[in-house]
Amino acid sequence: MAYFGFPINLIYGSLFLLLGLHLSNGDVSYSFPEEMKRGSVIGNIAKDLGLQVNRLPSRRARIVLEGNRKRFCDINADTGELFVADRIDREEHCGAKILCILKCELVLEDPLESHRISLQIQDVNDNPPVFVKDVVKLEIGESAPKGSRYRINAARDADIGQNAVQNYILHKNDYFSLNVLTNSVGTKYSEIVLDRELDREEQQEVSLLLTAVDGGSPQRSGTAVIQITVLDANDNAPVFSQAIYEATLPENSPVDTVVLTVTATDADESMNGKVTYEFSGISEVAKKIFSLNEYTGEIIVAKNVDYEEESKFEILIEGKDGYGLSSEAKVVIDITDVNDHAPVIHINSLANSIPENVSPGTEVGIINVQDRDSEKNGQVRCSIQQTVPFKLVPSIKNYYSVVSTGQLDRELVSDYNITITATDEGSPPLSSSKSVQLSVADINDNPPVFEEQSYSAYVSENNKAGSSLCSVTARDPDWRQNGTVVYSLLAGEVNGAPVSSYVSVNGDTGVIHAVRSFDYEQLRSFKVQVMARDNGSPPLSSNVTVSVFISDVNDNCPQILYPAPEGNSFMTELVPKAAHGGSLVSKVIAVDADSGQNAWLSYHIVKSTDPGLFTIGVHSGEIRTQRDISESDSMKQNLIVAVKDNGQPSLSATCSMYLLISDNLAEVPELKDMSYDEKNSKLTSYLIIALVCVSTFFLTFIIIILGVRFCRRRKPRLLFDGAVAIPSAYLPPNYADVDGTGTLRSTYNYDAYLTTGSRTSDFKFVTSYNDNTLPADQTLRKSPSDFAEVFGQSEESLEAMLKWSDPLF
Ligand SMILES: *[C@@H]1O[C@H](CO)[C@@H](O)[C@H](O)[C@H]1NC(C)=O
Ligand SMILES: *[C@@H]1O[C@H](CO)[C@@H](O)[C@H](O)[C@H]1NC(C)=O
Ligand SMILES: *[C@@H]1O[C@H](CO)[C@@H](O)[C@H](O)[C@H]1NC(C)=O
Repeated sequence: MAYFGFPINLIYGSLFLLLGLHLSNGDVSYSFPEEMKRGSVIGNIAKDLGLQVNRLPSRRARIVLEGNRKRFCDINADTGELFVADRIDREEHCGAKILCILKCELVLEDPLESHRISLQIQDVNDNPPVFVKDVVKLEIGESAPKGSRYRINAARDADIGQNAVQNYILHKNDYFSLNVLTNSVGTKYSEIVLDRELDREEQQEVSLLLTAVDGGSPQRSGTAVIQITVLDANDNAPVFSQAIYEATLPENSPVDTVVLTVTATDADESMNGKVTYEFSGISEVAKKIFSLNEYTGEIIVAKNVDYEEESKFEILIEGKDGYGLSSEAKVVIDITDVNDHAPVIHINSLANSIPENVSPGTEVGIINVQDRDSEKNGQVRCSIQQTVPFKLVPSIKNYYSVVSTGQLDRELVSDYNITITATDEGSPPLSSSKSVQLSVADINDNPPVFEEQSYSAYVSENNKAGSSLCSVTARDPDWRQNGTVVYSLLAGEVNGAPVSSYVSVNGDTGVIHAVRSFDYEQLRSFKVQVMARDNGSPPLSSNVTVSVFISDVNDNCPQILYPAPEGNSFMTELVPKAAHGGSLVSKVIAVDADSGQNAWLSYHIVKSTDPGLFTIGVHSGEIRTQRDISESDSMKQNLIVAVKDNGQPSLSATCSMYLLISDNLAEVPELKDMSYDEKNSKLTSYLIIALVCVSTFFLTFIIIILGVRFCRRRKPRLLFDGAVAIPSAYLPPNYADVDGTGTLRSTYNYDAYLTTGSRTSDFKFVTSYNDNTLPADQTLRKSPSDFAEVFGQSEESLEAMLKWSDPLF
């Protein structure tokens, strides 16, 4: 290039004295920029040295380089121009040296001549600034304060001077600004200055683009990326996902049940962001019940939860990161009730015993029911399931009164076992029950009651005083003295004498004793009132009638009315001589004070003068001839007749009957012999009277019978309510009730068997039971021997009896 091809001495001739010295040595110097194209002419050295160009080839002009450097320049021998033979890179040859002078020699021969050539290579901005690393990695803690500086290694530029790095430019960013500095050797470097605090959580990495520029023209630049990793600082506390966690947990949940999980997140990294959990506010109770998984935040049931002890837990949980920043959350655990408690029944008060006369609705006890569960699980219904006369009446909350509902009767039920059942309303419901015993106290509400409506005692007459007649029993179901029965006799009279002179009653046993010996012939029956009384206060009593029936004993001998007993009279019957066999001659009349069989008399001839002549009717007592009287028969006939009753043993009486076979009393010369002589006339009149009596009696009897037969149609039930007249003289003195008319009136059932006139037979005379007949509805216990039965018989029976009694009918 012609531009460069000028000799330095021409330009700097006077400035460079030393250069002139070189010239004196024949030196020449050229200055030219590096990186010229090959072949570019540096200068015409021949001219500059004043050499003859045409001689150059012959002188073998050549360029000798120092050392073994590559041949970067050479001489054109034809023109004498020095030209660039190879690329000349100033940085290669001189590096950072400011003056870059390459030396070489021009050697000529013939004559040998050498000229030094200095080639000053001028810098050309051919190198951009270069950072050592394309990517500069920086780690900056996010906690770094504003204004922190971070040095960035300088970019290198092989060029020098203005062509070297002149400035740095930082691309726009949020955090850093750039500070360009020059070090002691003049190298420019930069540092980034933190303008705004970093936040790893906002931006984990910051990339900056740094450009280094040189001062060449054209300007060159080089860039580097500054990669800043924002290091975490523990600047974030863990944050719970909720401020308050709420959970419900049924009580009795099994151990290890997860109640809930709390989660806290920490924006920080690694240790700074690793959250662990712990209880920070927890009651002693809750501490035992819940455990917290330190790492997962699970709250776990560790122990049985009992709603009844605690129904709500409030727990504070702290979430903490590795370096101790923490935050808190509240956990509210509501325990829900489970029906796990059966109701409990308490007997608050209970009457020991309840008088049986309490009115329905009386309160006899108070019970209380408790259930530890709540709501429906704790709502209890109480009841008595059995059929007992008690019920529960709800009173104030959870209290019930035990109230009687009906009449109590200790005599029916004296003790109640009441089972009270309490059931809550949970599902499933739980229940419990309790038995209470209630006893019923006695009240004297039952009078003694006799086992029989009435009592009858049968006793034979002539009983021993003190013998027991019967016993009465009354029952009283009441308790103790209220049911203890005492018997006593009620005051009364029997035949005008106090009843106590007849019988007595044993107060404890109810056995009735005879106080005296009874005589049937005087007293056939009587009634006493016995009272049974309990010992209650006031006492209750009841009365019963005891009928005492005295039965007959064969204690009376038959009494012969006719003929009069021996020695008293001389009774002689006249028997007509012409009497035929079977003629009625006489009749023995006897009575017996006893009754029934004991008074049923039979007649027998025990001894007679002529045994074949007379017979006696066994029951009628009629003495009849057995055959026709003959002349040969003795005129005086003597019969001894025995009258026996039918008792056991039977009693008897005998009498003598004198019979005179004659048509005329006057024909009886020996009458006196028969010791009747004195009273002959008297006897006759007696006999007449006797015959008249017998006849009258017989006639009366027939009239009565006929009358009865007529009357019966009108008054069918009327029986012999009258009297039978018999000769008073024939009645024995002990028949007390004989009045002046000789009428037998007995207040008692009194049977008399009488033998009346001829052709009649035994007949039973009775009086009706006016006084003693019992009302039809009452039953009277009768002994088999009691003849009273006859009176209950129908008229047919009576008729039959009459027919049986008398063949005439
Ligand atoms: C009542 O309960 C008691 C005690 O439990 C028992 O001894 C008695 O026999 C029971 N009575 C009845 C009538 O069940
Ligand atoms: C008997 O009854 C009375 C009330 O009539 C009562 O007061 C008393 O306690 C009862 N006696 C017994 C032993 O139960
Ligand atoms: C029993 O008889 C007595 C005396 O007549 C009388 O006072 C009492 O009330 C009677 N008792 C009954 C239960 O009839």
